[in-house]
Amino acid sequence: KKKAAIFISGGGSNMLALIEAAKDPAYPVEFVAVISDKKDAGGLAKAEARGIRTAAFERKDYDSKEAHESAILEFLAGLQPDFLCLAGYMRLLTGKFISAYENRIVNIHPSLLPLFRGLHTHQRAIEAGMKVAGCTVHYVTEGMDEGPIIAQAAIPILDGDTSDTLAARVLTAEHRIYRDALKKVAGGILATDDTARVISFG
Ligand code: GAR
Repeated sequence: KKKAAIFISGGGSNMLALIEAAKDPAYPVEFVAVISDKKDAGGLAKAEARGIRTAAFERKDYDSKEAHESAILEFLAGLQPDFLCLAGYMRLLTGKFISAYENRIVNIHPSLLPLFRGLHTHQRAIEAGMKVAGCTVHYVTEGMDEGPIIAQAAIPILDGDTSDTLAARVLTAEHRIYRDALKKVAGGILATDDTARVISFG
């Protein structure tokens, strides 16, 4: 099995979906740690309850972004993960960090990239008059939400949708495509330059 660490900043529902998927002996990934930049991230206790090692690195405890990332890299060096899975990790990684895990960092983003990079994706999609929203699993590169796309799901925007009602439906799809995309990536089924994608609708 490949080893992976999950990075979170919040409640960790995508994290939990991955941990649940890994209970299947056929899943090609085991999760060796959950790392957060917030000591009070709700996902940390959920990971611990499932027997997964956790570590929190608050940015304010370090003098610089580099020192913060170095501490995380040092922690990871002891675990030797094959992949890093960003799951609601609300911090940009530097090129130096990314190059330490080149083509081995994946992220889930709540929009159909390249549309709506950054924050408040659902509100922006509704305000733009979109009839379809969605989510994307992609490789992480230095540009924010810019790396090669691995998987996407398209979710209709319904009349009367608010960002909350839309987010809830997209989140369910996030859990599914993250699980399936990581399975393909870790199983060596998708190369980083592969144009084959996991695409699902609804
Ligand atoms: C998810 O919707 C994820 O796509 C998003 O944060 C949420 C985390 O929820 N990520 C980003 O916006 C990254 N910029 P979760 O903690 O329940 O998985």
